[in-house]
Amino acid sequence: MSNNILAGKRGIIFGALDDQSIAWKVAEKCVEEGAKITLTNAPVAMRFGKIQELGKKINSEIIPADATSLEDLENLITQSMDVLGGKLDFILHSIGMSLNVRKKRGYTDIKYEWMQKTFDISAISFHKVMQTAFKLDAVNDWGSILALTYIAAQRTFPDYNEMAESKALLESYARSFGFHYGDSKKVRVNTISQSPTWTTAGSGVKGFDEFFGYADRMSPLGNAPAEACADYCVAMFSDYTKYVTMQNLYHDGGFSNMGMNQAALKSDPSA
Ligand SMILES: NC(=O)c1ccc[n+]([C@@H]2O[C@H](COP(=O)([O-])OP(=O)(O)OC[C@H]3O[C@@H](n4cnc5c(N)ncnc54)[C@H](O)[C@@H]3O)[C@@H](O)[C@H]2O)c1
Repeated sequence: MSNNILAGKRGIIFGALDDQSIAWKVAEKCVEEGAKITLTNAPVAMRFGKIQELGKKINSEIIPADATSLEDLENLITQSMDVLGGKLDFILHSIGMSLNVRKKRGYTDIKYEWMQKTFDISAISFHKVMQTAFKLDAVNDWGSILALTYIAAQRTFPDYNEMAESKALLESYARSFGFHYGDSKKVRVNTISQSPTWTTAGSGVKGFDEFFGYADRMSPLGNAPAEACADYCVAMFSDYTKYVTMQNLYHDGGFSNMGMNQAALKSDPSA
Protein backbone atom coordinates (compact mmCIF):
# COMPACT_ATOMS: atom_id res chain seq x y z
CA MET A 1 0.00 0.00 0.00
CA SER A 2 1.41 3.39 -0.92
CA ASN A 3 0.28 6.84 0.17
CA ASN A 4 2.90 8.62 -1.91
CA ILE A 5 4.09 10.51 1.16
CA LEU A 6 7.62 10.91 -0.25
CA ALA A 7 6.50 12.17 -3.67
CA GLY A 8 9.05 14.58 -5.11
CA LYS A 9 11.69 13.79 -2.48
CA ARG A 10 15.26 12.70 -3.17
CA GLY A 11 17.45 10.62 -0.89
CA ILE A 12 20.53 8.45 -0.37
CA ILE A 13 20.27 5.03 1.29
CA PHE A 14 23.46 3.55 2.75
CA GLY A 15 23.84 -0.10 3.73
CA ALA A 16 21.67 -2.39 1.55
CA LEU A 17 23.75 -5.58 1.30
CA ASP A 18 21.14 -8.29 0.67
CA ASP A 19 17.38 -8.65 0.96
CA GLN A 20 17.68 -9.18 4.73
CA SER A 21 19.28 -5.76 5.23
CA ILE A 22 17.11 -3.17 6.94
CA ALA A 23 18.32 -0.62 4.35
CA TRP A 24 17.07 -2.86 1.52
CA LYS A 25 13.50 -2.67 2.87
CA VAL A 26 13.82 1.07 3.49
CA ALA A 27 14.97 1.63 -0.10
CA GLU A 28 12.03 -0.36 -1.49
CA LYS A 29 9.50 1.51 0.68
CA CYS A 30 10.93 4.94 -0.12
CA VAL A 31 10.56 4.27 -3.84
CA GLU A 32 7.07 2.82 -3.30
CA GLU A 33 6.18 6.07 -1.51
CA GLY A 34 7.26 8.17 -4.48
CA ALA A 35 10.89 9.09 -3.67
CA LYS A 36 13.84 8.97 -6.05
CA ILE A 37 16.96 7.53 -4.42
CA THR A 38 20.54 6.50 -4.98
CA LEU A 39 21.94 3.42 -3.26
CA THR A 40 25.41 3.12 -1.82
CA ASN A 41 27.61 0.64 -0.03
CA ALA A 42 31.31 -0.06 0.50
CA PRO A 43 33.16 -1.09 -2.68
CA VAL A 44 33.75 -4.57 -1.19
CA ALA A 45 30.00 -5.06 -0.74
CA MET A 46 29.58 -4.63 -4.52
CA ARG A 47 31.29 -7.99 -4.92
CA PHE A 48 29.75 -9.90 -2.01
CA GLY A 49 26.31 -8.35 -1.72
CA LYS A 50 23.28 -8.26 -3.98
CA ILE A 51 22.86 -4.50 -4.21
CA GLN A 52 22.93 -4.62 -8.05
CA GLU A 53 19.78 -6.74 -7.92
CA LEU A 54 18.04 -4.10 -5.78
CA GLY A 55 19.24 -1.28 -8.05
CA LYS A 56 17.61 -2.99 -11.05
CA LYS A 57 14.43 -3.80 -9.15
CA ILE A 58 13.75 -0.25 -7.99
CA ASN A 59 15.51 1.49 -10.87
CA SER A 60 18.03 3.29 -8.67
CA GLU A 61 21.62 4.13 -9.43
CA ILE A 62 24.34 2.58 -7.25
CA ILE A 63 27.30 4.74 -6.29
CA PRO A 64 29.96 2.86 -4.28
CA ALA A 65 31.45 4.69 -1.28
CA ASP A 66 33.45 3.63 1.73
CA ALA A 67 31.65 5.61 4.43
CA THR A 68 34.96 6.23 6.24
CA SER A 69 36.42 8.06 3.21
CA LEU A 70 35.65 11.78 2.91
CA GLU A 71 36.64 11.70 -0.75
CA ASP A 72 34.17 8.87 -1.49
CA LEU A 73 31.42 10.65 0.44
CA GLU A 74 31.93 13.91 -1.41
CA ASN A 75 31.79 12.08 -4.71
CA LEU A 76 28.68 10.15 -3.63
CA ILE A 77 26.74 13.21 -2.51
CA THR A 78 27.71 15.33 -5.52
CA GLN A 79 26.89 12.53 -7.97
CA SER A 80 23.60 11.78 -6.21
CA MET A 81 22.46 15.39 -6.62
CA ASP A 82 23.37 15.14 -10.34
CA VAL A 83 21.59 11.84 -10.88
CA LEU A 84 18.49 12.81 -8.88
CA GLY A 85 18.28 16.31 -10.31
CA GLY A 86 18.65 18.47 -7.21
CA LYS A 87 19.39 18.74 -3.51
CA LEU A 88 18.54 15.88 -1.17
CA ASP A 89 15.62 15.58 1.26
CA PHE A 90 16.73 12.54 3.24
CA ILE A 91 19.66 10.26 4.06
CA LEU A 92 19.68 6.88 5.81
CA HIS A 93 22.89 5.73 7.54
CA SER A 94 22.44 1.96 8.00
CA ILE A 95 26.04 0.90 8.59
CA GLY A 96 27.54 -1.27 11.29
CA MET A 97 30.57 -3.52 11.53
CA SER A 98 32.76 -4.56 14.45
CA LEU A 99 36.20 -5.99 13.85
CA ASN A 100 36.52 -7.40 17.39
CA VAL A 101 33.10 -9.10 17.10
CA ARG A 102 33.92 -10.45 13.67
CA LYS A 103 37.30 -11.78 14.85
CA LYS A 104 35.76 -13.12 18.07
CA ARG A 105 37.81 -10.98 20.48
CA GLY A 106 35.90 -10.60 23.76
CA TYR A 107 35.26 -7.29 25.52
CA THR A 108 38.08 -7.80 28.07
CA ASP A 109 40.56 -8.68 25.32
CA ILE A 110 39.85 -5.88 22.85
CA LYS A 111 42.36 -5.07 20.14
CA TYR A 112 42.35 -1.27 20.16
CA GLU A 113 43.30 -0.76 16.52
CA TRP A 114 40.23 -2.78 15.59
CA MET A 115 38.08 -0.89 18.06
CA GLN A 116 39.08 2.40 16.44
CA LYS A 117 38.27 1.02 13.02
CA THR A 118 34.89 -0.15 14.35
CA PHE A 119 34.15 3.35 15.66
CA ASP A 120 35.20 4.84 12.34
CA ILE A 121 32.94 2.54 10.28
CA SER A 122 29.96 2.36 12.63
CA ALA A 123 29.81 5.84 14.17
CA ILE A 124 32.31 8.44 12.93
CA SER A 125 31.10 7.72 9.38
CA PHE A 126 27.76 9.26 10.45
CA HIS A 127 29.50 12.51 11.36
CA LYS A 128 31.46 12.34 8.10
CA VAL A 129 28.27 11.90 6.05
CA MET A 130 26.61 14.85 7.78
CA GLN A 131 29.66 17.11 7.64
CA THR A 132 30.16 16.40 3.93
CA ALA A 133 26.48 17.06 3.16
CA PHE A 134 26.56 20.20 5.34
CA LYS A 135 29.62 21.67 3.62
CA LEU A 136 28.18 20.92 0.16
CA ASP A 137 24.84 22.41 1.27
CA ALA A 138 23.35 19.24 -0.20
CA VAL A 139 20.17 18.91 1.89
CA ASN A 140 16.99 20.94 1.38
CA ASP A 141 15.38 22.84 4.27
CA TRP A 142 13.29 20.49 6.43
CA GLY A 143 15.32 17.51 5.21
CA SER A 144 15.66 14.45 7.43
CA ILE A 145 18.76 12.42 8.31
CA LEU A 146 18.51 9.09 10.14
CA ALA A 147 20.87 6.45 11.51
CA LEU A 148 19.99 3.04 12.91
CA THR A 149 21.07 2.15 16.42
CA TYR A 150 20.55 -0.37 19.21
CA ILE A 151 19.63 -0.17 22.91
CA ALA A 152 23.08 -1.49 23.92
CA ALA A 153 24.00 2.23 23.85
CA GLN A 154 22.00 2.64 27.09
CA ARG A 155 22.02 -0.83 28.70
CA THR A 156 24.59 -3.60 28.93
CA PHE A 157 24.36 -6.48 26.47
CA PRO A 158 27.69 -8.27 27.08
CA ASP A 159 28.09 -9.92 23.68
CA TYR A 160 27.43 -6.68 21.77
CA ASN A 161 31.04 -5.83 22.62
CA GLU A 162 32.49 -2.55 21.29
CA MET A 163 29.35 -1.93 19.23
CA ALA A 164 27.76 -0.62 22.44
CA GLU A 165 30.17 2.32 22.52
CA SER A 166 29.83 2.76 18.75
CA LYS A 167 26.09 3.19 19.13
CA ALA A 168 26.48 5.57 22.10
CA LEU A 169 28.77 7.71 19.93
CA LEU A 170 26.42 7.50 16.96
CA GLU A 171 23.45 8.67 19.07
CA SER A 172 25.49 11.51 20.50
CA TYR A 173 26.41 12.69 16.98
CA ALA A 174 22.68 12.80 16.14
CA ARG A 175 22.09 15.19 19.06
CA SER A 176 25.15 17.38 18.50
CA PHE A 177 24.95 17.59 14.70
CA GLY A 178 21.17 17.81 15.02
CA PHE A 179 21.63 21.11 16.82
CA HIS A 180 23.95 22.60 14.19
CA TYR A 181 22.00 21.26 11.20
CA GLY A 182 18.69 22.39 12.65
CA ASP A 183 19.93 25.78 13.72
CA SER A 184 21.53 26.76 10.45
CA LYS A 185 19.66 24.76 7.79
CA LYS A 186 16.42 23.45 9.35
CA VAL A 187 17.51 19.86 8.77
CA ARG A 188 16.51 17.25 11.37
CA VAL A 189 18.72 14.42 12.63
CA ASN A 190 17.54 11.36 14.58
CA THR A 191 18.44 7.78 15.38
CA ILE A 192 16.01 4.85 15.37
CA SER A 193 16.76 2.19 17.97
CA GLN A 194 15.59 -1.03 16.33
CA SER A 195 14.73 -4.47 17.80
CA PRO A 196 17.10 -7.37 17.12
CA THR A 197 16.64 -8.24 13.43
CA TRP A 198 17.90 -11.23 11.41
CA THR A 199 20.48 -9.65 9.10
CA THR A 200 24.18 -10.20 8.32
CA ALA A 201 25.23 -7.59 10.92
CA GLY A 202 22.67 -8.73 13.54
CA SER A 203 23.31 -12.45 13.37
CA GLY A 204 27.08 -11.85 13.67
CA VAL A 205 26.58 -11.14 17.40
CA LYS A 206 27.30 -14.19 19.62
CA GLY A 207 24.14 -15.90 20.96
CA PHE A 208 21.90 -13.84 18.64
CA ASP A 209 19.34 -16.65 18.34
CA GLU A 210 18.57 -16.89 22.11
CA PHE A 211 18.77 -13.20 22.45
CA PHE A 212 16.33 -12.55 19.60
CA GLY A 213 13.81 -14.90 21.28
CA TYR A 214 14.29 -13.27 24.68
CA ALA A 215 13.67 -9.75 23.31
CA ASP A 216 10.66 -11.02 21.38
CA ARG A 217 9.08 -12.51 24.52
CA MET A 218 9.95 -9.50 26.67
CA SER A 219 8.32 -6.99 24.28
CA PRO A 220 4.52 -6.74 24.51
CA LEU A 221 4.29 -6.24 20.74
CA GLY A 222 7.15 -8.64 19.95
CA ASN A 223 10.30 -7.66 18.06
CA ALA A 224 9.74 -5.08 15.36
CA PRO A 225 10.48 -6.60 11.92
CA ALA A 226 12.69 -4.89 9.33
CA GLU A 227 9.66 -4.02 7.17
CA ALA A 228 8.09 -2.10 10.06
CA CYS A 229 11.39 -0.31 10.66
CA ALA A 230 11.29 0.72 7.01
CA ASP A 231 7.79 2.15 7.50
CA TYR A 232 9.05 4.15 10.47
CA CYS A 233 11.98 5.49 8.42
CA VAL A 234 9.55 6.56 5.67
CA ALA A 235 7.45 8.41 8.27
CA MET A 236 10.59 10.12 9.57
CA PHE A 237 11.56 11.18 6.03
CA SER A 238 8.08 12.55 5.36
CA ASP A 239 6.68 15.99 6.14
CA TYR A 240 4.57 14.49 8.94
CA THR A 241 7.53 14.55 11.35
CA LYS A 242 9.04 17.96 10.57
CA TYR A 243 9.68 19.04 14.14
CA VAL A 244 11.21 15.79 15.43
CA THR A 245 14.95 16.19 15.81
CA MET A 246 17.91 15.25 18.06
CA GLN A 247 15.99 12.18 19.30
CA ASN A 248 16.77 8.55 19.82
CA LEU A 249 13.48 6.88 18.82
CA TYR A 250 12.76 3.38 20.07
CA HIS A 251 11.24 1.06 17.49
CA ASP A 252 11.26 -2.08 19.57
CA GLY A 253 7.75 -3.32 20.39
CA GLY A 254 8.01 -1.80 23.89
CA PHE A 255 11.22 -3.59 24.97
CA SER A 256 13.00 -0.44 26.18
CA ASN A 257 10.37 0.29 28.84
CA MET A 258 9.96 -3.27 30.13
CA GLY A 259 11.25 -4.48 33.49
CA MET A 260 9.77 -7.96 33.67
CA ASN A 261 7.52 -10.13 31.59
CA GLN A 262 6.79 -13.72 32.71
CA ALA A 263 6.94 -14.82 29.09
CA ALA A 264 10.59 -13.78 28.92
CA LEU A 265 11.55 -16.24 31.68
CA LYS A 266 10.54 -19.24 29.61
CA SER A 267 13.02 -20.47 27.04
CA ASP A 268 10.21 -22.36 25.29
CA PRO A 269 7.12 -20.11 25.40
CA SER A 270 4.83 -22.96 24.33
CA ALA A 271 5.89 -25.10 27.37
N1 LIG B 1 20.18 -6.43 12.86
C1 LIG B 1 19.95 -5.99 14.08
O1 LIG B 1 19.64 -6.75 15.01
C2 LIG B 1 20.02 -4.50 14.35
C3 LIG B 1 19.38 -3.97 15.48
C4 LIG B 1 19.48 -2.60 15.73
C5 LIG B 1 20.23 -1.79 14.86
N2 LIG B 1 20.85 -2.35 13.77
C6 LIG B 1 21.65 -1.47 12.91
O2 LIG B 1 21.07 -1.41 11.63
C7 LIG B 1 22.08 -1.02 10.70
C8 LIG B 1 22.00 -1.93 9.47
O3 LIG B 1 22.39 -3.22 9.78
P1 LIG B 1 21.62 -4.53 9.28
O4 LIG B 1 21.18 -5.25 10.48
O5 LIG B 1 20.65 -4.19 8.22
O6 LIG B 1 22.81 -5.41 8.69
P2 LIG B 1 23.58 -5.44 7.26
O7 LIG B 1 24.76 -6.30 7.50
O8 LIG B 1 22.64 -5.84 6.20
O9 LIG B 1 24.00 -3.92 7.04
C9 LIG B 1 25.22 -3.36 7.48
C10 LIG B 1 25.79 -2.61 6.29
O10 LIG B 1 26.95 -1.84 6.62
C11 LIG B 1 27.73 -1.82 5.41
N3 LIG B 1 29.10 -1.35 5.65
C12 LIG B 1 30.06 -1.97 6.42
N4 LIG B 1 31.21 -1.27 6.33
C13 LIG B 1 30.98 -0.20 5.52
C14 LIG B 1 31.76 0.89 5.05
N5 LIG B 1 33.06 1.02 5.40
N6 LIG B 1 31.21 1.81 4.23
C15 LIG B 1 29.91 1.69 3.84
N7 LIG B 1 29.10 0.68 4.27
C16 LIG B 1 29.63 -0.26 5.09
C17 LIG B 1 27.66 -3.28 4.97
O11 LIG B 1 28.16 -3.49 3.67
C18 LIG B 1 26.19 -3.56 5.14
O12 LIG B 1 25.47 -3.21 3.97
C19 LIG B 1 23.40 -1.07 11.46
O13 LIG B 1 23.74 0.21 11.92
C20 LIG B 1 23.06 -1.97 12.62
O14 LIG B 1 23.92 -1.78 13.73
C21 LIG B 1 20.74 -3.68 13.49
